Amino acid sequence: DMALISRKGSALVREIHEKQKRDKSRQRFLELAGSKLGDILGVEKSVDEIDADIVVVGEDGEVDFKGKARFSQHLAVSAFTKSKTISQQRQNLPIFSVRDELLQVVRENQVVIIIGETGSGKTTQLTQYLYEYGYTVNGIIGCTQPRRVAAMSVAQRVSEEMETELGDKVGYAIRFEDATGPSTVIKYMTDGVLLRETLKDPVLEKYSIILMDEAHERSLDTDVLFGILKKVVARRRDFKLIVTSATLNGEKFSNFFGGVPIFHIPGRTFRVQICYSKTPCEDYVEAAVKQAMTIHIAGAPGDILIFLTGQDEIEATCYALSERMEQLISSTKQPVPKLLILPIYSQLPADLQAKIFQKAEDGARKCIVATNIAETSLTIDGIFYVIDTGYGKMKVYNPRMGMDALQVFPISRASADQRAGRAGRTGPGTCYRLYTENAYENEMLQSPVPEIQRTNLGNVVLLLKSLKIQNLLDFDFMDPPPQDSILNSMYQLWLLGALNDVGDLTDLGRKMVKFPLDPPLAKLLLMGEQLECLSEVLTIVSMLSVPSVFFRPKDREAESDAAREKFFVPESDHLTLLNVYQQWKANEYRGDWCNDHFLQVKGLYKAREIRSQLLDILKTLKIPLTYCGPDWDVVRKTICSAYFHNAAMLKGIGEYVNCRNRMPCNLHPTSALYGSGYTPDYMVYHEAILTTKEYMQCVTAVEPHWLAELGPMLFSV
Ligand code: CDP
Ligand code: MG
Repeated sequence: DMALISRKGSALVREIHEKQKRDKSRQRFLELAGSKLGDILGVEKSVDEIDADIVVVGEDGEVDFKGKARFSQHLAVSAFTKSKTISQQRQNLPIFSVRDELLQVVRENQVVIIIGETGSGKTTQLTQYLYEYGYTVNGIIGCTQPRRVAAMSVAQRVSEEMETELGDKVGYAIRFEDATGPSTVIKYMTDGVLLRETLKDPVLEKYSIILMDEAHERSLDTDVLFGILKKVVARRRDFKLIVTSATLNGEKFSNFFGGVPIFHIPGRTFRVQICYSKTPCEDYVEAAVKQAMTIHIAGAPGDILIFLTGQDEIEATCYALSERMEQLISSTKQPVPKLLILPIYSQLPADLQAKIFQKAEDGARKCIVATNIAETSLTIDGIFYVIDTGYGKMKVYNPRMGMDALQVFPISRASADQRAGRAGRTGPGTCYRLYTENAYENEMLQSPVPEIQRTNLGNVVLLLKSLKIQNLLDFDFMDPPPQDSILNSMYQLWLLGALNDVGDLTDLGRKMVKFPLDPPLAKLLLMGEQLECLSEVLTIVSMLSVPSVFFRPKDREAESDAAREKFFVPESDHLTLLNVYQQWKANEYRGDWCNDHFLQVKGLYKAREIRSQLLDILKTLKIPLTYCGPDWDVVRKTICSAYFHNAAMLKGIGEYVNCRNRMPCNLHPTSALYGSGYTPDYMVYHEAILTTKEYMQCVTAVEPHWLAELGPMLFSV
């Protein structure tokens, strides 16, 4: 054990760091730290690395640091932490071996691209290195993530590593949720949150450095940020930008910023054996379940990771797996090892999400069933087997429906390789691809199409317009969206009244930007003001911003359906949501009341929280709350005013077609109007979804003359 006496312990450690970089001589270090240190640590003998317990005492006699430190041949001193295991974990990450070189390129360049395998430590370590080095003296460190789940879980992890409460030194912000505080110096956030911050502060004054993480995902918001941050870099010499990626597309990012350095974190992965299907697979859920069971029964120890496309499939797979396990247990006298079946997808409640990181008990095997969220943004240790179905969901603009829809697509080769790589983090692994080698070689795209080239740009256009970017076709996009797509989004904003005839923001448009909502929802709120039912509409908007609050457990379907029907308002799913919320409020927002009525407590709480946040924004805009009382016809009219572009009309018995393109669109079985016998001539819907058919999600019956009155550019009497 060592004690270092210094004026200020932490200052000494930083000084050692600095000196060490300037001259790498061992002697210098020993002088600094006191020659005794060298003797005791055995640095004189040529050891690779040595760990020592170290205590740093200030001049006042107080202990500044207590913990483990690592000294290597290069005389690098690692960060201190009190917890031995966490600090050892941190030092074992591939990124640790290049810590000093990394800090050096960052110091010497304004923009740096960093490439490293998933799990090398980019997301959790880089921010801490920058913090330890002192980058938070004149501003804070921001780190963007394309996914909400990643922002939350990573912030949680880093706050543990730094031994601080989440929301204190380390925090996160996602839409409608801000877990940061006055002392936050490392802030994880979704790229959408940072994008909205640029509205208030175009040069991002409060940040000294931004890490754009997971840039390879090329999410819509990331791509827009690229253009905006490039301007910030040009305007602020004191600002630094780091772009990280898990795949080898560094050149493209580097060129975008005019040829900035690309830093590679050396990989440390094991070989992954790839097994293809001999024939195309008919039912990949069934095939995945079979494969997982085969591994569990006959395979060597190691956890399994299955990639599927979405929540429904994941739930079905988890259910099938637990059934097979039960069958197996009841059909054999042998003891069957435990299989821990763990789903992970973005809408899963946070406490359940955290489970995937926990280690399984001895003798048990984890089987994680995931969406492509586990491809690069979350790292789970201990996976030896990957089962890749070859599909994923992507948001794609569907010209037939005139809007974005999540659709299932074959993944790209780059994604397939990422998925396989998950099996080789801890040791040599195996990846079972439930598709043929021919499909991989000849049918899959090389890399995924960036979101900006395939989705609706309504939000982006509105945002760029309010950043005073007049001609969107001139904006500095890394891969410009198709011109049609920009024009189409502008047309939709014009329909909503957010843009005028020459494409400039209207007063309504300027107000709409203030809300972190999709343009039609923002318009709905503002029309609630005009038609004097703001309170009611505010509730509906909040309820539409959370996943469905109706709870439908597998074994109690009939019972829960009956409970849901009790809330139905015959003309409208929107009003049904309003009814649920108002009844919950009348029952003092009670949790047990929710459980009794098959409602998701958490969802309702979230809706209440969102409602109060939107209310705050309304207050800052000085918009007073109005109530319409028990007659909800005006609420339906308000909904019509913001959603007339999504209108459908009756054609035949119980069959509807889209008013604009005459494509059939169906009532969803969960709708209050489904099978109710009430078939209004016209209705509007919140969104269309595409599963086996095109469905309207959340509908409201409207009067035909409302359509003509509120959407004259599309309808006439
Ligand atoms: O960003 P990158 O993929 O390079 O790696 P990372 O997310 O920083 O993860 C580095 C390591 O931190 C992983 O190998 C995990 O062991 C650990 N980690 C964790 O235990 N819990 C989390 N929520 C996130 C990371
Ligand atoms: Mg990462």
